[in-house]
Amino acid sequence: MIAHSFTLLLAATSALAGPLQRRADGLNTRAKNNGKLYFGTAVDSSGQSDSNYMNILSNSDDFGQITPANAMKWDTVERSRNSFNFGPGDAVANIAARNGQFLRCHALVWHSQLPSWVGSSGFNNATLIQVMKNHITQTVTHWKGKCGHWDVVNEALNEDGSYRSSPFYNVIGEAFLPIAFAAAAAADPDVKLYYNDYNIETPGAKASGAQRIVRLIKSYGVKIDGVGQQAHLIVGQSPSVATWTSNINAFTSLGVDVAITELDIRTKTPASSSAVAQQAIDYANSVKGCLSNTRCVGITIWDFTDKYSWIPSVFPGEGSALPWDSNLQKKQQVYNGILSGWGSGTPTATPTATPTATPTETPTSSPTSSSTTTPTATPTSSPGETVPKWQQCGGTGYEGPTQCVSGTTCTMLNQWYYQCL
Ligand SMILES: *[C@@H]1O[C@H](CO)[C@@H](O)[C@H](O)[C@H]1NC(C)=O
Repeated sequence: MIAHSFTLLLAATSALAGPLQRRADGLNTRAKNNGKLYFGTAVDSSGQSDSNYMNILSNSDDFGQITPANAMKWDTVERSRNSFNFGPGDAVANIAARNGQFLRCHALVWHSQLPSWVGSSGFNNATLIQVMKNHITQTVTHWKGKCGHWDVVNEALNEDGSYRSSPFYNVIGEAFLPIAFAAAAAADPDVKLYYNDYNIETPGAKASGAQRIVRLIKSYGVKIDGVGQQAHLIVGQSPSVATWTSNINAFTSLGVDVAITELDIRTKTPASSSAVAQQAIDYANSVKGCLSNTRCVGITIWDFTDKYSWIPSVFPGEGSALPWDSNLQKKQQVYNGILSGWGSGTPTATPTATPTATPTETPTSSPTSSSTTTPTATPTSSPGETVPKWQQCGGTGYEGPTQCVSGTTCTMLNQWYYQCL
């Protein structure tokens, strides 16, 4: 069935193609031109009635992907047992569909924003497994075919890499992880399944804990496709390109993808001009880190505007973490920092096309020192070319090459995105 609809879609796409259209330059355009799936942003319900916000969000030259910040969490979806509310999540899925944006779905099993009935009903091991599987099965099934990724388990670790106390860990033990991933895979065999956590962007006890989780899930014979590095970072304390690179390599060497899933870089407010300059560099370094490894599939910022950022309410006196300010004005210096991290990335561009406002690069290790293949994937361009593994090969609105490199197959992730896998 997938192969059939793919053929039809390709036929429709090439019939409509006409003269080759180029996307305008933007955060997502650069990401795609560098072989990534997307550059995207979280969206919360507060922004959805704000037309200026929605106009910026819907510009897919900047945002090729969205994640619902809260709308798919357990306390929204299943506030009371076996009573499901998919409305807020549907609203986000509809935005993605309207704009042709890749949808990352977030998050199935998490200790926080978890309704109290899950932890306080005295469930034993067998019953809690049943409750957890029911939640996963109903939720994944509802958005089957719409989600490109699911964050299956979120934040299961303490800072020292041990398991965090939660209703799931306390009752089921570490087996809750493979059981959750197996339930998600059974409900939708095509969606990519991620473990997602924060403070795993640098090597250390917690990153090692996350790698242990990858191995644990695989040891059960269960599929895990990727690890989400949330990357809630601090200006001036963000990982260097070399740190990003070696840390991402440590994950991908386990046979999983990596995505930067919740990037924001906070500072004391109001932000000083030197903080903004450093922030532009920190954003660029995060982009270069992802760029250093072909299995880093994309970057999501945790909303694009300070207007709806979670930070000031959790870290009083801090914020100013995003490339659009609280009046929805673009901060050009920060925005250019992200662009410069991608490099020009424009297929038609002459070599001199890099933006002028490039923040100075930290002269850290050259990417060639890494053991994985060189990152700087050449942009796909002429339709006769073969598409490397992990890159886009089809989907509504896509006009690039469709022939996958041998050993891979053009696979539908959703209507707008086919990837060589
Ligand atoms: C709960 O049951 C699962 C599935 O049988 C098992 O893997 C896990 O070890 C059990 N947990 C405890 C704490 O007994």
